[in-house]
Amino acid sequence: MSEVRLDGVRVLLGVGGGIAAYKSADLVRRLRDAGAEVRVVMTQNATRFVGALTFQALSGNPVRTSLWDESAEAAMGHIELARWADQILIAPASADLLAQLAQGRAEDLLGTLVLATAAPVSVAPAMNQQMWAHPATQGNLEILRQRGVLVLGPGSGSQACGEVGEGRMLEPVELVGQLVAGHRPQVLAGLRVLVSAGPTFEDIDPVRFIGNRSSGRMGFAIAAAARDAGATVQLVAGPVGLATPAGVERIDVRSARQMRDAVIQRAAANDIFIAAAAVGDYRPEACAPHKLKKSGKPLALELIQNPDILAEVSALPDRPFLIGFAAETEDLERHARDKLQRKGLDLIAANQVGESQGFESSENALLLLWADGREQLAQADKATLARRLVEHIALRLQARAKAQSAP
Ligand code: C5P
Repeated sequence: MSEVRLDGVRVLLGVGGGIAAYKSADLVRRLRDAGAEVRVVMTQNATRFVGALTFQALSGNPVRTSLWDESAEAAMGHIELARWADQILIAPASADLLAQLAQGRAEDLLGTLVLATAAPVSVAPAMNQQMWAHPATQGNLEILRQRGVLVLGPGSGSQACGEVGEGRMLEPVELVGQLVAGHRPQVLAGLRVLVSAGPTFEDIDPVRFIGNRSSGRMGFAIAAAARDAGATVQLVAGPVGLATPAGVERIDVRSARQMRDAVIQRAAANDIFIAAAAVGDYRPEACAPHKLKKSGKPLALELIQNPDILAEVSALPDRPFLIGFAAETEDLERHARDKLQRKGLDLIAANQVGESQGFESSENALLLLWADGREQLAQADKATLARRLVEHIALRLQARAKAQSAP
């Protein structure tokens, strides 16, 4: 499985006026190291922070800073430049620049290029945390998101202004990683993928619940990987505090029964269902209307079994391609194969849980099992593992299509 880079991708880097512009010099180097061809356009304010010569030397191409540069227009006019780009990345994107882009103003070269291009546009915001949190900035971002602009970051931490909070530009290595992700082979192009993720909470009374230690990170990583592979993704998420991957439709649920309803409603309209959620097997028979009081005696809770969402989807007449997970503490392959058959799955991803692996760790390893095969995916971070799983699902779908078309 190939690691995709940015070979031959023509990146137009727009540098806005902010102190993070100094990081964009390193960004140019890293983009080129990943194989991209880079041309830089700076706003007038950006030139106050870093000299155009720096970007010219690093990109190996002339830098444009004005719409009114006659010699530059003679070499490559602004419309040609807009057409030249396979990708526009604006880093740093200041609060003012985001406002300009949201309004579609074409008063300078960068604003004009963004209007004149058909290429995807990504922005890496960088600003003081108060400016970031301001409703005006958030409103502008929402407009840009709805227009299909990908918002990368920002990160949080200490800021050049001495404050701490959200608004730091993502590091160049992360920005390149995100651009690379957008250029992965579209192995699930045109397919609709439904993912369940996270734990479920089963309420005991208004303030207590039975839950589990699932972080939701695997399911969220799968949703992002399926999106990067070209799929349209719906993510049914139990209670987790994770950011929604850009471009993914998220449906928040709390209990197993809510998750069941959300999944069953959508299952038949999807081509693939990946059940990565750790669904609670049992729930209290009823949720007490008021907070339970201590009585000095043992408290018995009657638990009843929750619906098995995956098994229900499997029984649908128009069922999608089904991938389940099996978290086991012992005898991994035997239990997982049994689950594959019992739930009527196309593929199962089994992982050993306990000790340092599984639910709460950032790394994992998966054993993939299907009716007549197996493949071990080596230990890796969840994003890498999710990518490999998605690539494998595409292979299994291809194999199925071939088998179905065979005479
Ligand atoms: O039976 P077990 O819980 O081990 O099965 C795990 C797989 O089944 C996971 O893919 C999980 O998302 C799914 N599951 C489900 N509904 C349940 C229990 C598990 O969809 N009630």
